[in-house]
Amino acid sequence: CGIVGYIGYREAYPIVIKGLKRLEYRGYDSAGVMLYDGENLKVCKTKGKVSDLEERASKEMTINGSIGIGHTRWATHGVPNDVNSHPHLSNSGDLAIVHNGIIENYAPLKAELIKRGYVFHSDTDTEVLVNLIEEVQKKDNLKLGKAVQVALNQVVGAYAIAVFDKKNPNEIVAARLGSPLAIGVGEGEFFIASDASPFIEYTANAIYLEDGEMANIRLHKQMKVRKIKDDSLVNPTIQELQMNLEQIEKGGYDHFMLKEIYEQPSVIKDTYRGRLHANEGLIQMAGVEDNLEKFLNAERIIIVACGTSWHAGLVAEYVFEEFARIPVEVEYASEFRYRNPIINSKDIVIAISQSGETADTMAAIKLAKENGAFVFGVCNVVGSSISRETHAGAYTHAGPEIGVASTKAFTTQITVLTMIALRLAKAKGTLSNSVFHSYLQELEIIPDKVKEALETNDRAKEIAAVFKDAPNCLYLGRGYNFPVALEGALKLKEISYIHAEGYPAAEMKHGPIALIDEHMPVVVIAPKQGHYDKIVSNIQEIKSRSGKIIAVVTKGDTQVRELADYVIEIPETSDALSPLITTIPLQLLSYHIAVMRGCNVDQPRNLAKSVTVE
Ligand code: G6P
Repeated sequence: CGIVGYIGYREAYPIVIKGLKRLEYRGYDSAGVMLYDGENLKVCKTKGKVSDLEERASKEMTINGSIGIGHTRWATHGVPNDVNSHPHLSNSGDLAIVHNGIIENYAPLKAELIKRGYVFHSDTDTEVLVNLIEEVQKKDNLKLGKAVQVALNQVVGAYAIAVFDKKNPNEIVAARLGSPLAIGVGEGEFFIASDASPFIEYTANAIYLEDGEMANIRLHKQMKVRKIKDDSLVNPTIQELQMNLEQIEKGGYDHFMLKEIYEQPSVIKDTYRGRLHANEGLIQMAGVEDNLEKFLNAERIIIVACGTSWHAGLVAEYVFEEFARIPVEVEYASEFRYRNPIINSKDIVIAISQSGETADTMAAIKLAKENGAFVFGVCNVVGSSISRETHAGAYTHAGPEIGVASTKAFTTQITVLTMIALRLAKAKGTLSNSVFHSYLQELEIIPDKVKEALETNDRAKEIAAVFKDAPNCLYLGRGYNFPVALEGALKLKEISYIHAEGYPAAEMKHGPIALIDEHMPVVVIAPKQGHYDKIVSNIQEIKSRSGKIIAVVTKGDTQVRELADYVIEIPETSDALSPLITTIPLQLLSYHIAVMRGCNVDQPRNLAKSVTVE
């Protein structure tokens, strides 16, 4: 979910609405806003997107005001409907809250409140929290900040909240535990949001609350930040934001996803800038240099991640083992955290996360730390929870990724992980000097090859037109391109809702081959390197069962071209770096199919960009 708040001198409504639109990547089942005009408090909320909220508010929101809070939801407790949308009001109607996260012990708290006469209108844990605050406030006649603090100390779970009290209207109280929260500090005004994007055009000064902290944000007064647990005051650091507005707007593209696909040549450069020095034969990444001994002594690397980041982890497994000869295991963070894994102080855990907020990945990190492992983060969002929880790390520097389906985050994650593997290979001497140097040089020109791969856009569009109505699709690849097949299939199902599966090409004969007939499109990633001959045989197996073959091949290829129904040509590169290139036409293919099917590319149904619940 995403939360936004404003307290100051401007009209709050447009700020909150625009902010919610920027946060829609965090969830878009429902949306709502509360405004206060100095006298009245009014809430407007609805199932659906922020644009649905705007439509409803144009009829129902009868007041203006310079205090407001808003929410865009990704449902956890209670189906997405109008009643379950946020903000939620307390029984008296004085308190309004927006909440991101889960209150795990809401059931006993709710039962207790019902005993005391509270009435609940929704199925949400959030309505329990706001009434708990009210109950605490009434019982001991407390100010809002104190009441929020007492209530939060009774709560088990994760939250980022913003609370407003009509009885004390110069203040918003915000708090976080496990879900991110940033406060923009302007002159005579404050902004509250799940990330800084809603307020970057108003102020460059932001405070990121730490876990377990709350802030009393008062008009014309100094903001107080304290620890929820023991009330001790904290001196918050004001950070200067580096983001700019253009970075989070579409810049002429129809969708954020397409913009982000096209940004890949430049963001891969940003990722290696200052780190890769091909001419000098050097790779320097502060997080790795500072901990080189640890990496060199590691007996094993365990990679934890979810979704697309997990696929980048699979590519990294091949790269690390081949280049640096360190054994690697790749785990779904959600499985790892619950299966009593064997971890010890000789392990290095690498956590990969675009958002840096994924709850399962965070929990896996905490578990690894408890067991004495050194934890290294590969995150995109600077200052995110995971980047702070890990012992060291390397940012991907891909810039804000807004499209829910991850594209540039994936290729920059692979870039960072490949650089780490190369750095370790150099230190360990596991690659010959000449091979090491040729990889560095190849990596340096990869952005140009990605640019060339983007020229497959028209071809991808033509092929998309042929297969847009297919109910299923199979993706096959071998070696380094097996994870690319998984990622290609994930992209297609995420945004076009076509059922798709990725498989190691040779495994096809152990199951998926039964699905192949003349209606089954099969995307085969078949560049010249790697196991070309083997994959040619796999293609023949599909062909003899009348499957429709779409092959991604190296420019100039003739053998696969003869067998495939459609080919997409990409520039040649080394086997280990090929995922950076082969991924591109697959991103474009799913993008065009989704557009042709009329799907909401940037905000596919049921998905969220930043999953802060387990
Ligand atoms: C969500 C997103 C995916 C993403 C995954 C992991 O499911 O929809 O695109 O790959 O979370 O997110 P992270 O931010 O940890 O990389």
